[in-house]
Amino acid sequence: MSAHGEPGRDRPLVGRGPELDDLDDALSSVSAGSGSIMLLEGEAGVGKSSIAHAVRTTAHLLGLEVRSASASAVPRRPFALLADALLPARPVPGAEDALGPVPSRAASPVEEELAALLDGARDTPAAPAVVARTEELFTALVRRRGDSGPWLLVLDDLHLADEASLAVLYRLAREGAVERALLLATMRPVPRGAELATVVAAWTRAGARYVELRPLAPTAVVELAESRVGAPVGPALRGALATTGGNPRFVADLVQAVQDAGALVPMPPGGVDVAHDGWVGPLDALVVARLDYLGADVTALLARASVLGSSFVVGDLAELAELPVAHCWRVLRHALAAGVVHARGDRLAFRHDLVRTALYAGLDPAGRRDLHARAARALQEAGAPPAVVERHLHRTV
Ligand SMILES: Nc1ncnc2c1ncn2[C@@H]1O[C@H](COP(=O)(O)OP(=O)(O)O)[C@@H](O)[C@H]1O
Ligand SMILES: [Mg+2]
Repeated sequence: MSAHGEPGRDRPLVGRGPELDDLDDALSSVSAGSGSIMLLEGEAGVGKSSIAHAVRTTAHLLGLEVRSASASAVPRRPFALLADALLPARPVPGAEDALGPVPSRAASPVEEELAALLDGARDTPAAPAVVARTEELFTALVRRRGDSGPWLLVLDDLHLADEASLAVLYRLAREGAVERALLLATMRPVPRGAELATVVAAWTRAGARYVELRPLAPTAVVELAESRVGAPVGPALRGALATTGGNPRFVADLVQAVQDAGALVPMPPGGVDVAHDGWVGPLDALVVARLDYLGADVTALLARASVLGSSFVVGDLAELAELPVAHCWRVLRHALAAGVVHARGDRLAFRHDLVRTALYAGLDPAGRRDLHARAARALQEAGAPPAVVERHLHRTV
């Protein structure tokens, strides 16, 4: 599996054999001349960028040309994603002194025209005719790049792409597969705007393959943690790892927090385990910060749900939060799509217990006591067993 990583710089990916095999097959078919589109979707931190990186490395080894860019959360200018991926790097005005000239490959006439159009639109919004011409040129650039050999285009975090780039991708999809190219796009299930949904639908009609990147299996989680600490891990750390829900970013965060807190101690024979819980507070804060992308409405409601336990009935949450049930469902839809909670019959369950405990820890103590009191009342009225009601009453003092 380490063949998929760049030795020295990258850590090998664990538990992704089938996905990488699929992508290797797609690369081989592109080398043989056909066109292919793959959409890689998965929750935040599940490993999309890591897979994209591994695919780039393999493509280099196969002698494919690689073009790649990541969309960013910071608002960007129109066509930013495609310009980053497809146009030769140019010196940033004012940056020459500090960094020296940026090396760039020679631009083709189409690339030069594109660069000029984008420069012209730097300070003022471009006229519709200019936007149309820019779209046309980007489309042609992607279509024709295969003339000089098979290539790979990676667009990471497409859910953050600028609308103008999405318009080009839509147009390409409508015209059918791009010969001699593998187009690989990664995206989160949320946030998903209407433009992205349209592009994904058009690509699906054009024959795109859709790969859902699932959480890592429990054995892979332990393997990942052991590769990070360099030793077999003991039962207490394994227990903590089980709360990550198979999300490699949370595994990495947890291991880092344990190491930073100096909580990792040798455990004969030859293993390591956690010795104290000084890492829990810093990890909670980091995990809550990682949920920012969901928006304050969603995290606030999830924090209240955390009082109810690792799974909860939405009606009880509505009661507790003093909100209409329909409103709760609207808010929780995002958490469901993001993979933070999943549905279990009429209940929702937190997918990563460490998310629940982090949100719970982030509630202020007085508010938390009040929520437990309201939970006790709501659950009693809903007919919950006395012991469950009692557990909440205990936490109100
Ligand atoms: N299969 C894996 N094996 C080992 N580490 C992984 C794996 N997948 C992801 N990681 C690590 O987890 C973190 C998050 O991965 P990343 O690819 O950035 O996720 P995403 O792009 O889906 O948000 C990174 O530190 C990455 O190195
Ligand atoms: Mg990523």
